[in-house]
Amino acid sequence: MAFDIDMIKAVYNRMPARVEAARKLLGKPLTLSEKILYSHLWEESTNEAFVRGKSYVDFAPDRVAMQDATAQMALLQFMQAGKDKVAVPSTTHCDHLILAKQGADKDLKSSLTASGEVFNFLESVSNKYGIGFWKPGAGIIHQVVLENYAFPGGMMIGTDSHTVNAGGLGMVAIGVGGADAVDVMAGMPWELKFPKLIGVKLTGKMNGWTAAKDVILKVAGILTVKGGTGAIVEYFGPGALSLSGTGKGTICNMGAEIGATTSTFGYDDAMERYLRTTDRADIADLANEIRPHLTGDPEVYANPEQYFDQVIEIDLSTLEPHVNGPFTPDRATPVSKMRAEAEANGWPMDVEWGLIGSCTNSSYEDLSRAASIAQQAVDKGLTTKADFGINPGSEQVRFTAERDGLLQIFEDLDATIFTNACGPCIGQWERAGNNERVNTIVHSFNRNFSKRADGNPNTHAFVTSPEMVAAIAISGNLGFNPITDTLTNDKGEEVKLDPPVGDELPDKGFDVEENGYQAPAEDGSNVQVIVSPDSKRLQLLEPFDPWDGKNITGAKLLIKAFGKCTTDHISMAGPWLRFRGHLDNISDNCLIGAVNAFGQATNKVKNQITGEYGPVPATARQYKAEGIPSIVVGDHNYGEGSSREHAAMEPRFLGVKAVLVKSFARIHETNLKKQGMLGLTFADESDYDKIQEDDTINFLDLVDFAPGKPLTIEFIHADGSKDIVLANHTYNEAQIGWFKAGSALNLIKQEANQ
Ligand code: F3S
Repeated sequence: MAFDIDMIKAVYNRMPARVEAARKLLGKPLTLSEKILYSHLWEESTNEAFVRGKSYVDFAPDRVAMQDATAQMALLQFMQAGKDKVAVPSTTHCDHLILAKQGADKDLKSSLTASGEVFNFLESVSNKYGIGFWKPGAGIIHQVVLENYAFPGGMMIGTDSHTVNAGGLGMVAIGVGGADAVDVMAGMPWELKFPKLIGVKLTGKMNGWTAAKDVILKVAGILTVKGGTGAIVEYFGPGALSLSGTGKGTICNMGAEIGATTSTFGYDDAMERYLRTTDRADIADLANEIRPHLTGDPEVYANPEQYFDQVIEIDLSTLEPHVNGPFTPDRATPVSKMRAEAEANGWPMDVEWGLIGSCTNSSYEDLSRAASIAQQAVDKGLTTKADFGINPGSEQVRFTAERDGLLQIFEDLDATIFTNACGPCIGQWERAGNNERVNTIVHSFNRNFSKRADGNPNTHAFVTSPEMVAAIAISGNLGFNPITDTLTNDKGEEVKLDPPVGDELPDKGFDVEENGYQAPAEDGSNVQVIVSPDSKRLQLLEPFDPWDGKNITGAKLLIKAFGKCTTDHISMAGPWLRFRGHLDNISDNCLIGAVNAFGQATNKVKNQITGEYGPVPATARQYKAEGIPSIVVGDHNYGEGSSREHAAMEPRFLGVKAVLVKSFARIHETNLKKQGMLGLTFADESDYDKIQEDDTINFLDLVDFAPGKPLTIEFIHADGSKDIVLANHTYNEAQIGWFKAGSALNLIKQEANQ
């Protein structure tokens, strides 16, 4: 059995008492989100009523999921922790590194060749450390998690922003960086700012062409891509009860597109049906025993304005199908307005591809509803104008859909069935005839940023439900509204598509021959982790050196970054993604996007050894080779963006000892601390202006490094004059221990060996 029933029993056993204690502590009825959060505190009990949007709290998530692109560095780091096994149930899923080109069979084979060494590494390291491994072709991480691991009332983290999909089964599931996953797998607490709460009340019942996808497309239009930031979106109300488990998953999935920490729904009959049909009746039975704890208190839902920070109400009965885009998922257009909107904006009306799938919309229900539209095209003598591509969400969904004839319906329309993987959703799509042409595609994915699907900045990608993708692709026209418009068939007759019908769950249950899961070894101590020393993509990590106990002296300024410096500026994505498992190689992108305050150019800094200007990574490498420490100076909100740990590991690897800025994005600041660096802020922001490009830098009192005590740094300028700068920090005792040990992982390892 892939899931861990004992872990779930333990969660459910402790939940009632913890929920009651939280209710008493807060002196009010609780939302579901609060129940889950308070029952997953790292410290078993608390006397602190956390402030939403303010308090930083340590949590103990129940499980971890990782996808193949992000798992590489997470697992390379975990190997440094000196543990025999992961502390919580964890899984690795191979889905991002699989190309979509000719169809599942050929594509899977070629991807196994192209990324074989990465897959082999992930398989061996998973096997060694007790991590479940889902092979390439087994499915997309979030669909597989929903089918196998998600459970009502649980808390999980995953190294992918759409981990939030598991909210469809009533979890608090949050996307994080690899370093956070390592903490949890190594048995450490996981810190999160206690989220704010947005309530979405759903009334009415969907009908006709409207699908669960339209709920989140509508919400995205209301809240925009930033509106959910720092908040959990909790859905409730009679409308919520009418949605299937996977439909709820779709809604939660795209919570990532509004920046939400996560989204969730209370446990209900639809979730119970989904659990039972996916072979988890025992979880449904356990959940039923504590049912009231797995949803918000009735008083909360009766008076949501009183208990949520923001409330939105949507009537499903009148909700129209939406088509969102292009280039951003929050540009929401009801289907009835699309033609006028597209014409007014000059968007290309001819639709070239309709793509169904991704972790957002690849359930059995999705495929069956889209297939009902495809079948009508065949029955009514319509030929499709656009090409069709289908990515089933998992082998279980694919096998069952094939058994039930759904895939054949698409194949009758010449659809290409791609591997059960991300494919075009993450740009892993070798689209035939692709160039910089202006064109339109529609898909059921979640993100439609420029270049995301096929790398072409002129592809206008629109997000909509699978059934709408099918209808628009058949019509070949972006403005097509199946509710009112007709199409001309092969006999020249005007025909109309009937609204979609589908099965929430397969009548005959799910079926699969080989689900692609590989359980880890009981005892992994003899398992060899496979990494070739010649590999360009993978490199075993060497522990960073511990602090030598002395003041850092004679350091050189590597770069004084000017203005915005996000994790993308520090560690770019794009073509560099293939080096995510190779710290040395990916360090060649270190800070190449940052603007140098001296000269305002990117990737051009003064090398103080040669006096020449050169790229940041090469300059840092020369300092490192000559044993000279270096320092990075930055502006406000340094390191904002993603939680990518590479942005902290690369400078550390290249010999940067400290990052001194006006202010930090908190996650990046923590990542620097974890990697054993000094993350410091100017006590007086105007001191930023005193830093010169050929400064030599001495720490004067690092030997007295202590919580709450600023550090004093001397900047000696080229003319011999100097400035003394006071630097604040937020290190507590434990974090100073990370610095001294060289990294948090070094310290964990030391402790494990004691
Ligand atoms: Fe994969 Fe796209 Fe989802 S990349 S995990 S299918 S958002």
